[in-house]
Amino acid sequence: MKFEKIDPKSVAENSAKLIGSDWMLVCAGDRGGFNMMTASWGAFGFMWNMPAFFVFVRPSRYTYEFMESRDFFTVNILPESRRDALNICGSRSGRDCDKAAAAGLTPEFTENGVYFAEARLVFECRKAYSQMMEAGSFADKTLVEKWYAASDFHKMYVGVVERALAAK
Ligand SMILES: Cc1cc2nc3c(=O)[nH]c(=O)nc-3n(C[C@H](O)[C@H](O)[C@H](O)COP(=O)(O)O)c2cc1C
Repeated sequence: MKFEKIDPKSVAENSAKLIGSDWMLVCAGDRGGFNMMTASWGAFGFMWNMPAFFVFVRPSRYTYEFMESRDFFTVNILPESRRDALNICGSRSGRDCDKAAAAGLTPEFTENGVYFAEARLVFECRKAYSQMMEAGSFADKTLVEKWYAASDFHKMYVGVVERALAAK
């Protein structure tokens, strides 16, 4: 797939649909090692006067280790025809298998990280802020009961979009 650089602000799609329905493939790492996972909780918005992604990763995910140790991550939006790949990357762990091979995805390496040739949109994000969610910070405590019964709180990462690509 060939890509062209785009202005992140030119993405006309509704981000609630982009993330909540199309889903994201969040990837961090480099040639020495990388991992990716499906994510459907997060946001694409504007922070510190820059386009930014907000992604939420539980520390139990293998991807978390790469999110922690690397300065960049990518958000990949795949076409509907690759829904199978998203299901694989959202149900299997890179600890147990070669997920890229299992999902039929082709990693493309840049100086900052990894994206996938099959994506229709790619956002290369520089980690700007991260914070573990805490029970005490929830105004709505029913969310804690519903989603964090095992105290496995997400860590939020805010990544400033340094480069956005669209498949030609
Ligand atoms: C549709 C969908 C959305 C998901 N969203 C998230 C998410 O936002 N955050 C998260 O931590 N896990 C999310 N997951 C779960 C991870 O993708 C899943 O646990 C994955 O197997 C982790 O892989 P890893 O261990 O290789 O990192 C989602 C799974 C699916 C199927």
